[in-house]
Amino acid sequence: MFSNRNLLPIGVFILLRIMSVQVILGAQWGDEGKGKIVDLLSDNIDITARYQGGANAGHTIIYENNQYVLHLIPSGIFNNNVICVIGNGVVFDPEAFLKELQMLKNLNIDFKNRILISHNAHLIMPYHKILDRIKENKIDKIGTTGMGIGPAYVDKASRIGIKTLDLLDKKILKEKIKKNLQYYNDLFQKIYNTKPVNENEMISQYEMYASQIEDFITDTSLYLNNAIKSGKRIIAEGAQGTLLDIDHGTYPFVTSSNPTAGGVCIGLGIPPTSITSILGVVKAYCTRVGEGPFPTELNNELGEKIRRIGAEYGATTGRPRRCGWFDAFALKYSIMINGIQKLAVTKLDVLNDFDEIFICTSYEYEGKAIKTFPTDILSLGAITPVYERFEGWKTDISGVKRFEDLPENAIKYLSAIEKYTGVGISIVSVGSKREQTIIVEN
Ligand code: GDP
Ligand code: IMO
Ligand code: MG
Repeated sequence: MFSNRNLLPIGVFILLRIMSVQVILGAQWGDEGKGKIVDLLSDNIDITARYQGGANAGHTIIYENNQYVLHLIPSGIFNNNVICVIGNGVVFDPEAFLKELQMLKNLNIDFKNRILISHNAHLIMPYHKILDRIKENKIDKIGTTGMGIGPAYVDKASRIGIKTLDLLDKKILKEKIKKNLQYYNDLFQKIYNTKPVNENEMISQYEMYASQIEDFITDTSLYLNNAIKSGKRIIAEGAQGTLLDIDHGTYPFVTSSNPTAGGVCIGLGIPPTSITSILGVVKAYCTRVGEGPFPTELNNELGEKIRRIGAEYGATTGRPRRCGWFDAFALKYSIMINGIQKLAVTKLDVLNDFDEIFICTSYEYEGKAIKTFPTDILSLGAITPVYERFEGWKTDISGVKRFEDLPENAIKYLSAIEKYTGVGISIVSVGSKREQTIIVEN
């Protein structure tokens, strides 16, 4: 007979075995280095799963000393034992996916039986990309990636979306494309005065995609729930970042999905109780691509210096990223929205050569401190960031392996981030390669 005391450790053990979804997400405006961190941590796990966004993401990984960018396939793919899931919350672009597969083939990466695409993921269609560009040029400029993300999510919400499941039935696929093209071609010709999309070409293009993709399509929610039950370790990989979240970001200058932790369950079809930890990835400074308010932006030489040293150009579009100081006040908001328990601070090495570095600790509006990060763009545009100044460390830290070997000023800087946010740092990244990572012991 077990006594209660004996049962407790077994219970805790079972709980840990059963619940093992680790969320890794961006806590700023995207491009925080999620790809590197997910690739690194997938060494020890069974499954990586993307839960939202699409090929607007650009997750960079250094593999055998070369740099590769993943847009749709989760960042675990470079670890041979990891299964990669593209969840129902993703808007799936077959063209981008097949390009990525070709890249993996060229690298001799064995992806057979390692990539699963949700049958409920919605497809990006050529008319989504056309409409994305029309909206950018003729209506409101958000500075999108032009990958058709917004229009695809619009179709999903208005219930005219075409799912990957539809690729499995030629007749249904054809009917849905025909129906949608009636609407879109009317819109393009009558409202926007642009060329219609050729129906037959699109149908044969998507039939071709179907033949190449059908074997990857499955019920990934069922797969993941079974994996959770059998104690598999899963990373849910966010794309974009918290401040680009359609509900919690700086609307309308956001993406059209939920990169925040709440998006994980919806976008993978797994229960909230399966999530065990939430890691927020942040750069040691801030960047933003596209339009929208950015309180700590440096529109000067310092911003250019960060961009140059940090190679801050979009991994998807090549656009220069806007750069600015670290915003601890915005991060506190991100931590609240996501329930972030630990931080991974990336690109600390980019600040090696600065005499002084600043952290934004709070915002003032009309001379008074405000309580929380305002997501409405008018308020956000009107606040004044309050900074604390730090001495730079003026040393190359890109080879440092242990936290205690970092220069004192770098430790002071990281400690201030912990102090202002109340959250501990568990990973410090000092270069783009896997080995340029410090795992913080305490
Ligand atoms: P993601 O979208 O969050 O995955 O980030 P991106 O891949 O778009 O951008 C991050 C960029 O920084 C990539 O070029 C990475 O190779 C690079 N990177 C990641 N971590 C570090 C780091 O610690 N130091 C430096 N110098 N570069 C890094
Ligand atoms: P990763 O996953 C940074 C930005 C765009 C634009 C806004 C809306 O690499 O961090 P969209 O094409 O999504 O409709 O564009 O969102 N954006 C990103 N910025 N990193 C990303 O992804 C982004 N994906 C979209 O620049 O401002
Ligand atoms: Mg990116």
